[in-house]
Amino acid sequence: PVPIVIDCDPGHDDALAIMLAAADPAVDLLAVTTVAGNQTVEKTTLNARRVCTVAGITGVPIAAGCARPLLQPLAVAADVHGESGLDGPRFPAPSVDVVPGHAVELLHRILTEHPEPVTLVPTAPLTNIALLLTRYPECAGRIREIVLMGGSTERGNRTPAAEFNVYTDPEAADIVFRSGVPVTMCGLNVTHQALATPEIVARFEALGTELGTVCAELLTFFGSAYQRLWGMPHPPLHDPVAVARVIDPAIVECVDAYVAVELRGTHTRGATVVDPHGYLGRPANARVAVALDREAFWDRMVGAVAALGAR
Ligand code: BDR
Ligand code: CA
Repeated sequence: PVPIVIDCDPGHDDALAIMLAAADPAVDLLAVTTVAGNQTVEKTTLNARRVCTVAGITGVPIAAGCARPLLQPLAVAADVHGESGLDGPRFPAPSVDVVPGHAVELLHRILTEHPEPVTLVPTAPLTNIALLLTRYPECAGRIREIVLMGGSTERGNRTPAAEFNVYTDPEAADIVFRSGVPVTMCGLNVTHQALATPEIVARFEALGTELGTVCAELLTFFGSAYQRLWGMPHPPLHDPVAVARVIDPAIVECVDAYVAVELRGTHTRGATVVDPHGYLGRPANARVAVALDREAFWDRMVGAVAALGAR
């Protein structure tokens, strides 16, 4: 299995990304680190503990990271994920705790001590990852790749041009894309192919487990937010797409491209400028996801929740 760490801000889709990573035999989840994004880091950390508790994920260290973006104030996504960051289901009191110390220190320790290079899967603003690369530049060689959910080849979901994770901390995303570490970007253009239709929600319900019901409730809350805010009939399950790319690269087709993060721009700060046709004459610095094998994706996702529920 590929050793991975998820750096997240749960978040409805982050919650399912954690479940997929914990249960799928193709990856070995070494840790979950949290960051401010969908909600404050206190809330996203509590939510990571809630998810691990309800899913029976034990023995995976959870560490809390940065409380705000590198340069700008935090703007959370309570409109999408609710006041708790994970509104919808009722969660049991968390029985798994965080480990002491900052997420960046845990990431550094894992990268230093693990016998193989480790894949990082950020599904949140890239603050922790940028801080890791800045504070411990020698770590870069120990990262096999960074497979992130963020950005878009098309339009945004926080501004007309910018996607939430990149928009929330553009300077951090810029550091990651310019780091020289192999980066795969799973942006909105591909995550909007992972729509949780009523048939998909029914597959989670039909598992007949407490966890299956929690997933269905998460998707139902998430779906009502997408309906209300964007008029979309079904919500896109963004974050698990990045995990699925690591599990089986064939699930997420990519093209090589140069990607720049717009840091200024009158209306475009936080946009990912993707150049697959080489207009800018720059060498590719990323693999950019373009197409999803929907059937394989949902089979792995539902299969992971089934496996966890049966434990
Ligand atoms: C991203 O923003 C967050 O709200 C989701 O969890 C996902 O990581 C989608 O733009
Ligand atoms: Ca997220």
